[in-house]
Amino acid sequence: MTANRAAGLLPTDDMASVVTNYLAGAAQARTWHVEKAMEWDLADAARLTDGQRSAVEFITIIEDHLPGYFSLYHENFPVDGSVEPSVYEHNRELYHFTVRWASEEDTHARALTRYQTASGLTDEQTLRGLLVAPGQGRFELPFTHPVQYFAYALVQEKATQIYYQQLRAVVDEPVLKEVLTRLSRDEARHFTFMADVVARYLQVYGDEVVGPIRETVADFRMPLSGVIRGYWRWALKIADTARYDHTDAYEHLIKVVNRAVDAPSERVSELISFVDSCRTIEVAR
Ligand SMILES: [Fe+2]
Ligand SMILES: [Fe+2]
Repeated sequence: MTANRAAGLLPTDDMASVVTNYLAGAAQARTWHVEKAMEWDLADAARLTDGQRSAVEFITIIEDHLPGYFSLYHENFPVDGSVEPSVYEHNRELYHFTVRWASEEDTHARALTRYQTASGLTDEQTLRGLLVAPGQGRFELPFTHPVQYFAYALVQEKATQIYYQQLRAVVDEPVLKEVLTRLSRDEARHFTFMADVVARYLQVYGDEVVGPIRETVADFRMPLSGVIRGYWRWALKIADTARYDHTDAYEHLIKVVNRAVDAPSERVSELISFVDSCRTIEVAR
């Protein structure tokens, strides 16, 4: 058994090719200079409803926690002498993605904090102060199999993309609309990377990764749900403005699984029905 297999990792060549696909696509994505690309002078929080303001404050905190998310990947896929050489090779390939992804997510944090100050929602000092506690909070993902880090992020990236699109649809302040367009476009690309990794896992490991993927969905927790004070009250409040439900991403996870396997085994079929059953049924209001 190779060291990668023992550690539940993809063969390095597979990881490398998924990363290369991402970077080849990302190179075509327009780079976004937060400082130059936006007409910040036109940002105007007076044109937002209370719910929309609250939503902006909420997503700023979530995006601003980037150092915490980045260190999770760094700790769990170390790029140092603590791992076998072949695991190092795998982790080094993955790092080409992680570091790029982190830089894109950090741009999101910058764009949202800039929006808040430019639009008059708050001032820099107050905002920095508000971001300390959630930034210092530790967001734990108690996973036992590496595929779970990718399955989790697959759901998270898709859920965020959907949320930004829905929020954008109800906002009519042009600068925030533009910020949300760019954010959702990036999250869509991040989703495709995670989807490619999960698909490779299913192709390489088959039924072996079904249990871990199922657990990720069964125990799904939103990032920072245990870190932000009054998280659920806040989450419900912003849901009045635009729907924010991570289970909206599950149909996309099901598509990834279906596309990855030609003839689903019994365990894979069971996984698909389980994921499907976890979707929130929309109640007509
Ligand atoms: Fe983001
Ligand atoms: Fe993202």
